[in-house]
Amino acid sequence: MTKTLVLFGSARKNGETKAMLNLLLESLGDKAGDVKIIDAYQTEIQPCIDCRCCWEYRGCSINDEMQEIYEMIDKADTIIIAAPVYYYSVPGKLKILIDRLQVYWAGIPRGDKPENMSRRGIGLLTGGAQPFPNQFFGAELVLKGVFAAVAAENVGIITFSETDTKSVNKSAELRDAIFKLADKFPDHQI
Ligand SMILES: Cc1cc2nc3c(=O)[nH]c(=O)nc-3n(C[C@H](O)[C@H](O)[C@H](O)COP(=O)(O)O)c2cc1C
Repeated sequence: MTKTLVLFGSARKNGETKAMLNLLLESLGDKAGDVKIIDAYQTEIQPCIDCRCCWEYRGCSINDEMQEIYEMIDKADTIIIAAPVYYYSVPGKLKILIDRLQVYWAGIPRGDKPENMSRRGIGLLTGGAQPFPNQFFGAELVLKGVFAAVAAENVGIITFSETDTKSVNKSAELRDAIFKLADKFPDHQI
């Protein structure tokens, strides 16, 4: 069965980011297959220490929850990253997890980085402020960097502004954008 891994980065368990994720998962329905959600705020992942062990062998010297997450990423057909924007980036707890994905980037110095994309990546970002230029620019770059590292084709990053005053579930425009993205996943490919 197809596998979807969600890296969830909101401090609020049932905030607007979760509402956006729920909308996407509902839209994907059976196409999402077996869905696992990693809530970064429920983890005690240690930060990357740039020891560069992963430059030599495909693994991480830190033995913690990431070991299980690496296995999930390796098996995932789709990776969804859902996060609010905190100071133009993703929240710290999620960033700590993301930095530990250095083991995938290090396929370059190791010489075993896959040339082809082996999975899909989807990003969902919320921001509290009214829309303004570059509101999501920093966070989008972070997500694109992750997708490139884990060999995921970037299928789309959907953003939603003004969560301070607007709710995801009341936006027909957002619902449409998410339906369209989910439609891109033909049944037989996911
Ligand atoms: C520490 C912190 C930093 C934030 N920085 C930004 C920001 O740079 N731009 C923005 O639009 N909203 C910012 N916000 C607002 C959050 O993006 C907004 O509250 C978020 O969409 C809420 O998601 P949630 O409902 O899942 O918690 C920030 C919020 C916090 C707590």
